[in-house]
Amino acid sequence: MAPTWFGRSATILGFLVTLALCSCSDASRRALLKENSMLERHEQWMALHERNYKDVAEKEKRFNVFKDNVKYIEQFNKAGNYPYKLSVNKFADLTNEEFKATRNGYKGLCLEDKLARASSSFKYVNFKYVNVSAVPSTMDWRKKGVVTPVKDQGQCGCCWAFSAVAATEGIHQLKTGKLISLSEQELVDCDTKGVDQGCNGGLMDDAFKFIMSNKGLNTETNYPYKAADTTCNAKEASTHAAQITGFEDVPANSEAALLKAVAKQPVSVAIEASGFGFQFYSSGVFTGPCGTQLDHGVTAVGYGVSDDGTKYWLVKNSWGTSWGESGYIKMQRGVSAKEGLCGIAMEASYPTA
Ligand SMILES: *[C@@H]1O[C@H](CO)[C@@H](O)[C@H](O)[C@H]1NC(C)=O
Repeated sequence: MAPTWFGRSATILGFLVTLALCSCSDASRRALLKENSMLERHEQWMALHERNYKDVAEKEKRFNVFKDNVKYIEQFNKAGNYPYKLSVNKFADLTNEEFKATRNGYKGLCLEDKLARASSSFKYVNFKYVNVSAVPSTMDWRKKGVVTPVKDQGQCGCCWAFSAVAATEGIHQLKTGKLISLSEQELVDCDTKGVDQGCNGGLMDDAFKFIMSNKGLNTETNYPYKAADTTCNAKEASTHAAQITGFEDVPANSEAALLKAVAKQPVSVAIEASGFGFQFYSSGVFTGPCGTQLDHGVTAVGYGVSDDGTKYWLVKNSWGTSWGESGYIKMQRGVSAKEGLCGIAMEASYPTA
């Protein structure tokens, strides 16, 4: 990429020359140095995340966003007002508005609120864990070999598929003792009957309905992820590596009910994940701020209590391992709002097998 290399060298050279010729004050000299190191930082970040911009104007625009984000993140961490840290991750050249704009932006989010609420069918009929009275004080389904490695949905708004697949992988392992990575792409391509719309969003419950009516789901290996809407491969979709017998909704707005379910198996949950804190979450217990406009589907794979006594849900995301704690987020548990933090207790569900 000769033009990029040239652009970079020229920019940095420009700053060095300016600095050398500058008969300016120490303050402006420092400002120049700072700007220069920020430019270098952006270059390094671009290389790390293999980011190329279409022209100089776009690069300058992205640099300014990057700069603002870095400043915000550093101030946030330095202030230390929250029990979690932020980091300059792969979303660092997106404004929060762009991050939220699932149709044009990164598309990491996927459950538009409209869509989530269109699920008028969301009401529990049976909750098989209703009588569970004693649950372990902590749970981590990863340690029990029930969770596949963190995946990356890329620029496709199909978090709903990743959430439903992770819950299905979990119940399949618990039933058969075999941990098999299953296909999200099969859901993206073939599950077109309900509200599910591939990369444009969908619902976990409708994904479970598809898996039931399709009589199972193929493996990730046989039906690999493309991060795009492609044609349903009917042959691969007719091969089944795992089956579910049904699904149940956790009684809404009850973290106590959710706890009973997560104590028994990984559970699909819908949350609001579009805030600045979520965009740049790096480690610790996430305590918000966030609302309850459900826009993302993830999977609760455990719960625990942090060293400082904060209770949390252990949540598997689908934004790759470079985001959060190796792809996971700890979200505060036991909040005063009945919906749970970011609405985590509003629309939880799990497959049965
Ligand atoms: C829960 O307990 C009640 C009362 O004993 C019983 O009627 C009900 O069938 C139980 N439900 C489940 C799902 O086990």
